[in-house]
Amino acid sequence: MTIDKNKLDYKNKIILAPMVRVGTLPMRILALECGADIVYSEELIDLKLGKCVRKENPVLGTVDFVDPCDGSVIFKTCDIEKGKVVLQLGTACHERALAVGKLVQNDIAALDINMGCPKEFSVKGGMGVALLGQPEKAKKILRTLVENLKIPVTCKIRLLPTVEATIKLVNDLATTGIAAIGIHARTRYERPNHRPHPEAIREIMKAVEIPVICNGGSKGFELFEDIEKFREECGADSVMVARAAQLNVSIFRKEGVLPMDDLIKKYLKLCVDYDNTPSNTKYCVQSILQDQQETPRGRKFLNCQTLQQIW
Ligand code: FNR
Repeated sequence: MTIDKNKLDYKNKIILAPMVRVGTLPMRILALECGADIVYSEELIDLKLGKCVRKENPVLGTVDFVDPCDGSVIFKTCDIEKGKVVLQLGTACHERALAVGKLVQNDIAALDINMGCPKEFSVKGGMGVALLGQPEKAKKILRTLVENLKIPVTCKIRLLPTVEATIKLVNDLATTGIAAIGIHARTRYERPNHRPHPEAIREIMKAVEIPVICNGGSKGFELFEDIEKFREECGADSVMVARAAQLNVSIFRKEGVLPMDDLIKKYLKLCVDYDNTPSNTKYCVQSILQDQQETPRGRKFLNCQTLQQIW
């Protein structure tokens, strides 16, 4: 087995952040078309993905990981995102994480472990931000993956209560051989309405060597330049965008954002081309429409049940 842990370069990259329900294949492709360098999947849970069966779909040109119980596609990828798609895994168990890693490693560019999700579902299961309180367990998961997979492994964390504690954690996690670390510039108990702390990332950057992907500043982003500005404020190697991309993924366009109608048309075409589920398609379009959902056109859209009706 050839091991190339540095295949994915994490320097100077603009990245679509992991987002449950948003980061499915059509949105990831659109993010790449708009200029993102790397795209993350939504967080997928090890128990669910681990029981999936890999199937090639020659009609759509996709590789699907299918739940054998109900036939639903849990993760879908295709050649367009080859070498650029990072699968984010929710896990609390190194063995289960490794089993999933082995299942998907030929179809993804890197595997990321979620160590920042503060939602009850994650924390109760020992996943997400719960791992930050158990660094030995977190390291065991990362080390197992780094030692046994042929793709780069990363993790996404939040700030700890002090910069010193975060530096210690980042350097500790880096000893496992991970290729990069994503840092959401908020602490565990801070929510999206709390201001992020780019200055803390800037301090961390002085004391760590591992490539850092900063995240958390996108609430007010309106243009591509805002992404770069946040990266510069943080002094980080790369930057990851969630909420601003959920609202308008063309934030990744250096030429400027697309008008809402053009964006929705492009997105819907990809949903049809890749047979995205109507519920996921609707969720993402609703995020783009925001208050336009209350218009007659918006309400007509909300009543659609199938992709054909939506299109
Ligand atoms: C998220 N976030 C998130 N984080 C993560 O590690 N895995 C995930 O699956 C999700 N899911 C998710 C869904 C949605 C709809 C949102 C808005 C956010 C958190 C996200 O990746 C990011 O860390 C924060 O949103 C802060 O970055 P922004 O929004 O300021 O760019």
